Amino acid sequence: MYLHEEMETLTRTEIEALQFERLLRTLRRCMKSPFYQKRFAEHHLSPSDIHSLDDLRKIPFTTKQDLRDNYPFGLAAVPMGEVVRLHSSSGTTGTPTVILHTQKDLDEWANAVARCLYMVGLRRGDVFQNSSGYGMFTGGLGFQYGAERLGMLTVPAAAGNTKRQIKFITDFGTTALHAIPSYASRLHEVMEEMGIDPMRDTKLRTLIIGAEPHSEEQRRKIEKMLGVKAYNSFGMSEMCGPGVAFECQEQNGMHIWEDYYIVEIVDPVTLAPVPEGEVGELVLTTINREAMPLLRYRTRDLTRILPGDCPCGRHHKRLDRMKGRSDDMMILKGVNIFPIQIETVLMQFEELGTEYLITLTNEEANDLMTVEVELKDFSDDYPRLQALTREITRQLKDEILLTPMVKLLPKGTLPKQEGKAVRVRDLRKTLI
Ligand code: COA
Ligand code: AMP
Ligand code: ZN
Repeated sequence: MYLHEEMETLTRTEIEALQFERLLRTLRRCMKSPFYQKRFAEHHLSPSDIHSLDDLRKIPFTTKQDLRDNYPFGLAAVPMGEVVRLHSSSGTTGTPTVILHTQKDLDEWANAVARCLYMVGLRRGDVFQNSSGYGMFTGGLGFQYGAERLGMLTVPAAAGNTKRQIKFITDFGTTALHAIPSYASRLHEVMEEMGIDPMRDTKLRTLIIGAEPHSEEQRRKIEKMLGVKAYNSFGMSEMCGPGVAFECQEQNGMHIWEDYYIVEIVDPVTLAPVPEGEVGELVLTTINREAMPLLRYRTRDLTRILPGDCPCGRHHKRLDRMKGRSDDMMILKGVNIFPIQIETVLMQFEELGTEYLITLTNEEANDLMTVEVELKDFSDDYPRLQALTREITRQLKDEILLTPMVKLLPKGTLPKQEGKAVRVRDLRKTLI
């Protein structure tokens, strides 16, 4: 029997019984975390107040700000000696966030990713190439360990160097590739330049795409370009990384693994549950994690639970494509960025004024961030301005992990704005 068959074929009643059992275990664990001890005490709440899955609503939400405020280890629910890895978000200006894992957490994470990959037909004998950044980007190690757990030959190509990436695909007979949607287009563009026809010259059949919002049309276009079936993969570092929700071969919504997570969809303003099938903010509770369980974590991602059963027979609920975010986080080249990170870097330069504008574009499969910023005083000292541009670019790259194009503008050039200033223009076309 395949490792996960038992979990994948649970009925709704069985899923809910398992969830409740795991929720109670998680709550007991949380009482070892200084953060949750305090939170429960403040709300005069104890794990013994939770008598059913519905009682989850008695528990307050956990937010990214809680993670920041308790950086780095305030949410640990095990002694630090049992923690074997951490993943941290980018950012040196604001406080970053940290997620902790025990060895068992890492094993379960690999199992979840392996389950997803198995679900879309990948097996031992497949060659799996991963174009995610490694290191702190959880798409790197997350897919790596999951693909190895399944017994595939893995090619940890990591991000960038597209020509070499394509050489790996052709030379090693890569059958399955993980790439974010915008990078899949870039790969195709460079294949064309190299005279490589993906259908004739490669064995690529399966593409895993995720990490950034994309439309159904975009998926179909990528599938046609590369001659593959492309499956949507949803994950986030706070929930480990990839392996949270994944499409099955029906390609109609992402099954969220409910033996790992309890899923709620709430109104992002009132925080009340929305009726089943309506769009709201995704809230997740981890029920299969030791080092750092999270209760009712507000993901800020907007989506809905798809009604009805999936023809594949799995009863784990399905999430619709992500519809956006309830905060101002941007995702470019698979990297998450908050405008405040950019502002904080810019405001450290005394040569700069306070007006700036961030523009996101995607010309010819190349995602680009342009940062226009006004100078405080007039200057025509071009060598100095060039050096300043270089230094701002360098510092921004350190902060946001990708390279923006920086343009210095004379004071008063950016359009004057009434009320709350618009700092970000997203001009990316959804269709590639
Ligand atoms: N994945 C893989 N490669 C990417 C990429 C992505 N999301 N976005 C861009 N690249 C490639 C570019 O095509 C370029 O290679 P090429 O010129 O050979 O085609 C190379 O990476 C550098 O990109 P560039 O845009 O010139 O540099 P940058 O400094 O702005 O970006 C990256 C730096 C790409 C390294 C950084 O954005 C990154 O690490 N992205 C990956 C994030 C990730 O893996 N997220 C998790 C997914 S689950
Ligand atoms: P990270 O923590 O860096 O893995 O980023 C997680 C965020 O990436 C999520 O909260 C989403 O906003 C976004 N994301 C991940 N997967 C998808 C997907 N399949 N579709 C749309 N957005 C996604
Ligand atoms: Zn299904």
